[in-house]
Amino acid sequence: MAGPLRRADSVTGVRLGVLVSGTGTILEALLAEGLPVVVVVADRPCRGLDIAAEHGVAAELVDRRTFGGFGDAFERDTFTRGVVEVLGRHDVDLVVMAGFGTVLTRPAHDAYGGRILNTHPALLPAFPGWHAVEDALAAGVAVTGCTVHVATLDMDAGPVLAQEEVAVRPDDTAATLHERIKEVERRLYPATIRRVIAAGVGPGGSTR
Ligand code: GRF
Repeated sequence: MAGPLRRADSVTGVRLGVLVSGTGTILEALLAEGLPVVVVVADRPCRGLDIAAEHGVAAELVDRRTFGGFGDAFERDTFTRGVVEVLGRHDVDLVVMAGFGTVLTRPAHDAYGGRILNTHPALLPAFPGWHAVEDALAAGVAVTGCTVHVATLDMDAGPVLAQEEVAVRPDDTAATLHERIKEVERRLYPATIRRVIAAGVGPGGSTR
């Protein structure tokens, strides 16, 4: 069912849940752009939780360490159900991963299939995975970039919504290159999220 009538460029009534693990500069950009973030969920203690609190946004930690941590003992499905429980409690319509370091499993896609977005610091399908910036540098490419895509069960593999190139400089380190990529992500991700909302992710996850 469709929610209340909204102008196509309005974000009114849509509730975003943002997933973070790190410094949260992309989260900051989403908040600065006025996107309707109702909860920030982290999988580990991180600056992203502080940013949420500073902005008066609910901040919840679903700590991986209480689900077996980072090794083979990690209970990924149980952890994923914990994240879904938090998102459900905050009536989230659209899930936005912003530097989230855990791959979510089927319970998340059962609840939010097609409504989980991710930004990745490479031009997918090139350089998927956790070390995309280092891998691009090691491969000696002249151009890399970032990709906003719909998250699916396979990591860094869902339908691409937006991409933008970033030139690699001869003196780049992974840190300098990643920062230039993130400058683009901080602009491209909010704009793409607005486009997704305008295209029809409404309250309750309805499409129009
Ligand atoms: C971004 O480059 C994102 O694509 C990657 O992690 C980075 C997050 O940056 N998955 P920040 O923590 O928001 O500064």
